Amino acid sequence: MKHLFLLVLLFILFPFKGQSFSQDLNLGKFSMPIGAYYYPEQWDENQWDRDLKHMSDLGFEFTHFAEFAWSRLEPKDGNFDFSWLDKNISLAGKYGLKVVLCTPSATPPAWLTSKHPEILIKLESGFKVKHGMRLNCNGSNPIYQKYINRLVTKMAERYGNNPIVAGWQIDNEPHFEGLYDYSDFSQNAFRKWLKTKYQSIEKLNQSWGASFWSFTYNNFNQIFIPNKNEHAGNQHALLDFKRYTADALAEAVRFQTTILRNSVSKDQWVTTNFAYYKFLPSVDLFRNQKDLDFASHTMYLLSTFLNTDKGEMAYRLGSGMELSFSGEMARSIKGFTGIMELQPGQINWGQWNSQPLPGAVRMWIWHCFGLGEKFVCTYRFRQPLFGGEQFHKGIVEPDGLTVSPGGKEFVQAIAEIGKLKIDNSQTIETPHEIQTRTTAFLWKQENLLALEDTKGTNSWNTWAHYYSYYQCLKSMGCPVTFIQETDNFDVQKYPFMVAPAYEMVDKKLIDKWTKYVADGGHLVLTTRTGMKDKNGHLWETLLQQPIWDLIGAKIDFFDQLPPTKTSTVEFADKKYGWNVWGDVITPTQHTEVWSTHTDNFYTGKAAAVNHKLGKGSVLYVGVVSTEGEFENALLRKFYLQSGAQILHLPDYVFVEWRNGYWVAVNYGSKQFELPVPNGKEIVFGDKSVMPGGVTVWK
Ligand code: GAL
Repeated sequence: MKHLFLLVLLFILFPFKGQSFSQDLNLGKFSMPIGAYYYPEQWDENQWDRDLKHMSDLGFEFTHFAEFAWSRLEPKDGNFDFSWLDKNISLAGKYGLKVVLCTPSATPPAWLTSKHPEILIKLESGFKVKHGMRLNCNGSNPIYQKYINRLVTKMAERYGNNPIVAGWQIDNEPHFEGLYDYSDFSQNAFRKWLKTKYQSIEKLNQSWGASFWSFTYNNFNQIFIPNKNEHAGNQHALLDFKRYTADALAEAVRFQTTILRNSVSKDQWVTTNFAYYKFLPSVDLFRNQKDLDFASHTMYLLSTFLNTDKGEMAYRLGSGMELSFSGEMARSIKGFTGIMELQPGQINWGQWNSQPLPGAVRMWIWHCFGLGEKFVCTYRFRQPLFGGEQFHKGIVEPDGLTVSPGGKEFVQAIAEIGKLKIDNSQTIETPHEIQTRTTAFLWKQENLLALEDTKGTNSWNTWAHYYSYYQCLKSMGCPVTFIQETDNFDVQKYPFMVAPAYEMVDKKLIDKWTKYVADGGHLVLTTRTGMKDKNGHLWETLLQQPIWDLIGAKIDFFDQLPPTKTSTVEFADKKYGWNVWGDVITPTQHTEVWSTHTDNFYTGKAAAVNHKLGKGSVLYVGVVSTEGEFENALLRKFYLQSGAQILHLPDYVFVEWRNGYWVAVNYGSKQFELPVPNGKEIVFGDKSVMPGGVTVWK
C-alpha cells in the first residue's frame, strides 16, 4: 500500500510525458502515413506515370526508390545515369507522393566486383561469393567504401535538397548474406580490432582463457577467425569475432550516415531498415544509436523461417509478438520508429507460404499504429515478374493494375486511419494505468551472442527465454522499452525492469541494479543472471554469488533435464512443469519464497524468490517452465503487489495505446471479450475481437 501511495505521489509530482510523435518525418499528412516500394528499373518506362498515379490514387502517401539500383545508376565505372531517377522523383511529386531514397550498397554492380574481388565476402564453408547475390560485399572494406562514397555523394548532392525527398535509407537490412565474413580482408580487420582492444597478446591470452588446452598465442598474426568446424573451439574467441562483426556492420552504416549528413538538408532524415535481428545475430541496433535519426525495421509476419509458430492461427495471422518485439526494439533506439517493410500478403520465401487470413494485413497495419510506428511502408507495390521473389505479393497483381487482396486491406486501413482525429503536434498525456506498468527490458546483445555458443543444454533457447518474458509483459498490457546498462535506470520512467538470463555482469551493473531497487524500482531477474564476468569467465566465487545480496538468496546449483522428463514446481497451489533449467535456491532470512520444487532430491527447495530491498523489490525466477505459464503467474503477482495496474489478456491478444486511442488486435484463434471500460466510444470493431480482428476505442 505504501508503495502504491509513493508511486501515485511520484506521478503527481512528475507527470510522465507520453511519446509525442511530434517529429515530423514529412511522409504525408496522415497520423501514420503509408507508403509502398517501387522499383522503376524493373518496369517499362511508359508504365512509371501510370503506376505512381495509381499508388497515389489508392491513398498511399509516399514511395521508396533506388534500393538495389546501383547498376542502373552507375552502369559503368564512373559513368552515372540519374535521368530515370530524376524522372520518377518528379512523377512522385506530380502525384503528391513523398520519396524515401535508398543507397544501393546492398547490390554492387558486376563491373565493381570483377575489378575488386577482394571486397566480396567469404562464407564459413570457405566459399567466396561471386556477383549474382545481394549483400555480398563487406561494407567496412575501404576499397568498397571508396565506390560507395562516390555514388552516395553524387546522390546526396543531387537529391539532398529536393523537397520531394523526405529521407534516406542506407543499404538494405544491413548484414552479410551468410551472416559472417571469413575473407582475407575480414581476417586482417579482425586482427586489427583485437590489437586495438587488447593492446598486447598477453592481455588477449588472458581474456580468451588461452592457458586452457594450450590455446596461447605468441602474436596477433597467429590468430584466425574461429570456425564452427573446429570442434569445441575457444568460445571467448568466437564471442570476440561476433563483437567485431557487429562493430564492422555498424561501421558500414556509420560510413554512409556521415556522407549523407555532410551533404543533405537538415529536413531530410537518415535511417536504415534493420532486419529481423533474431535471424541476424550480429546485428546490433544500439551500435548505431548515435548515427541515425531513427532506426526503422522490417517485418514479415508469416515468414516461417524467422517466426516462432505460436498460436493455432499463426500460419495465417503471423506472430504478433514478433512484430511487437521488433517495433518496440527499433523504437527504443531513438524514441520512435517506422516500419520500412511490411508484408503486403502472401510471400514466397518461407518454408511454406500460407495465404494470410482475410483481415490479417489490415490487422498488422493497425497493430503498427498501436505500437506508435510513425509510418508503414509495404514491400512492394508491384509483384515482380522475374527474379527470386516471384509469387511475392504486391499491392497490385502481376498485371500491374488489379489491386491484390492485401492491397485492398492496405487501402481500407489507410482510409480508416485517415479518419482518426489526431493532431501529431499535440502531446496527450499517457493514461496513468499505463505509466504504472511501463517496463524496461535490459538488453545486451553480447549476452545473447555468448549464450547461443554456450547453451549448456540442447534445450536452451535464448530467444524463447526472452520471448516468454516479453509475451508475459504484453499480456499485461505493458509498453516495453529496451534499454542498455549504460542508460539511466530511471525509476519514475520505468517502475519495472526485466533482465532475463543476463549472464555477463560487472560490479557496476550490480550496484546500479541495487540502487534502482532501493529507489523503488521492481526488478525481474532470471536464471543464469550474473554467472559470468564481462569476459565470459566464471566468477571466482560460488555460483552467481555477486548477485546474492541483490536477490536475497543463494543459488546452490542448477539442474537440467532431458526433454523426455518433466519435473514440477509449485506456485500458489498450482503445479507447473519444467525441464530446460531449474535453479535450486536457498533464501536468506527475509526473502519470501514464492515457488518451491516438488520433485527430485531437492523437493521443498526454492525455485523463485521475492526480495524486498529499500523501496523496491526483486523477483528472481530460477526455472524455465515448459509452457511459460509459471513465469506468467509469477509476473502477474509481482506487478500487482508492486502497484501496477495490469491487463489480463490471453496470449496473442495485444492492446496498445496511442494518442488517445486504444487499439486491440487478436492473433489468437478464439474470440476475446475486451476490457473496454464503460463510457468509452468504440471507433472500429466490436467489444469482442475476432481472430484477425481489430477494435479501436477512445
Ligand atoms: C526483405 C528484404 C527485401 C525483400 C523482402 C521480400 O527481407 O529486405 O529486399 O527481399 O524481404 O519479402
